[in-house]
Amino acid sequence: MTYDLVVIGTGPGGYVCAIRAAQLGLKVAVVEKNATLGGTCLNVGCMPSKALLHASELFEEAGHSFAKMGIGVPAPKLDLPAMMNFKQQGIDGNVKGVEYLMKKNKIDVLAGKGKILGAGKVEVTGADGKAQTVDTKSIVIASGSAVAQLKGIEIDEKRVVSSTGALSLDKVPGKLIVVGAGVIGLELGSVWRRLGAEVTVVEFLDRILPGMDGEVVKQFQRILEKQGFAFKLGAKVTGVDTSGAKLAVKVEAAAGGNPETLEADIVLVAIGRAPYTEGLGLKEAGVALDERGRVVIDDHFATSLKGVYAIGDVVRGPMLAHKAEDEGVAVAELIAGKAGHVNYEVIPGVVYTTPEVSSVGKTEEDLKQAGVAYTVGKFPFTANGRSKVNQTTDGFVKILADAKTDRVLGVHIIGREAGEMIHEAAVLMEFGGSAEDLARTCHAHPTRSEAIKEAALSVGKRAIH
Ligand code: FAD
Ligand code: NAI
Repeated sequence: MTYDLVVIGTGPGGYVCAIRAAQLGLKVAVVEKNATLGGTCLNVGCMPSKALLHASELFEEAGHSFAKMGIGVPAPKLDLPAMMNFKQQGIDGNVKGVEYLMKKNKIDVLAGKGKILGAGKVEVTGADGKAQTVDTKSIVIASGSAVAQLKGIEIDEKRVVSSTGALSLDKVPGKLIVVGAGVIGLELGSVWRRLGAEVTVVEFLDRILPGMDGEVVKQFQRILEKQGFAFKLGAKVTGVDTSGAKLAVKVEAAAGGNPETLEADIVLVAIGRAPYTEGLGLKEAGVALDERGRVVIDDHFATSLKGVYAIGDVVRGPMLAHKAEDEGVAVAELIAGKAGHVNYEVIPGVVYTTPEVSSVGKTEEDLKQAGVAYTVGKFPFTANGRSKVNQTTDGFVKILADAKTDRVLGVHIIGREAGEMIHEAAVLMEFGGSAEDLARTCHAHPTRSEAIKEAALSVGKRAIH
């Protein structure tokens, strides 16, 4: 078989790239080693975690917030198998959707593990061990990432779990210890806390969510603590003894010393993810990796081997599904001779907890470090009418604008629905807009988004409320 493009991996990077290339008239095949399409995001990442976050949030609300609104319901009872079934139905629906999209766009799905034999040649080995070789003008590596391991601690996915195991526990742990206060730790920690677990997060650094705006994160930590999270910051887990009925987790200060042993039912290791290139034959084929194991690419996603490109979690940049998707579209357009491009300055990030945390562009720390003069506009949800009537007033909007030009450089939101609200800021920034542009845009009343307009007004020190 001869193709214009073979994409290895069907995560959000790979399948989106394949569709865009097919739309542009290329003959495309995707190679997938897993039994289902959709990669990490659809099967063990974004989608199952959001299903459990949604269900567990409603479970907690039914128990805590309904009564004050005059909704009398009996204390909610958890049916964990049914909740897991709800999650699985969501996964299946999305995976089937990708299968449909492959058919609709006449993309061949080659089931098996892909290996690059050289420019223009991909070997696909099926689960039965049978191999076929396909010829192709271009190859896109979209092989994604895998869980980063913690030295000396073995993940068995039963008691010591990664995010994959934590998405499928068969009972609520009494005590859950999370290693790493990043996105996975806080999202999945929230799921199990809401369902009844006592959650302690051990984080190496002296703050949670490194990379996000410090002021936002400080308030976020306080809110999480009020919800029942315990944090051990500036600390590391050095070992887990699995010999007893309870896990014995050895924790000490990040710099060493002060050892203590904590008891847990489940330990979730969430210290990041690593690029996945196993079995792709990259070294032999001449595709260069960097010191962190990522496929090296140029500004046009081209690797060191002609005709071979790479996108998504396996290359530099944030490990986010939408970043992988946009790179997938851009590389397909470039391969088809068009002008594909990704603006890395405007990639939103969202933590889907309660409240949500969202951000786009530069943080205050980034601007200070770069020596950029900026102005800050802030607006709390306590002064937003809609949030007041709904009694969901935690959080605020923060806008950072260039002190000279008023161009918006970064927007950070902590609060309910922050993940949906961030996109007006992203569009504004994509068009190089100013805080004044935002402040003069009519916002519907009463909405939480009015807090963005007020924060923009507050850049010019003239918030109304
Ligand atoms: P992947 O989705 O990892 O897909 C790679 C695919 O390639 C896999 O299907 C794999 O089987 C296949 N593959 C690899 N090697 C081969 C080979 N040799 N042959 C054939 N097939 C191969 N991101 C967000 O933006 N929002 C979220 O809410 C979010 N939540 C997450 C929650 C969790 C618990 C986790 C773990 C991640 C989450 N992410 C989230 C991150 C997101 O899942 C990734 O950024 C995204 O999946 C990366 O897409 P990708 O296409 O690069 O790779
Ligand atoms: P992360 O990089 O977000 O966080 C890892 C945390 O672990 C960091 O705070 C780090 O300082 C800490 N850490 C590292 N080593 C440690 C150690 N030995 N002991 C204690 N703490 C340690 O990684 P995470 O949460 O595993 O997520 C992986 C990727 O998945 C992220 O890049 C993220 O972008 C993506 N993801 C995105 C989501 C979203 O967009 N909502 C949801 C979940 C994951």
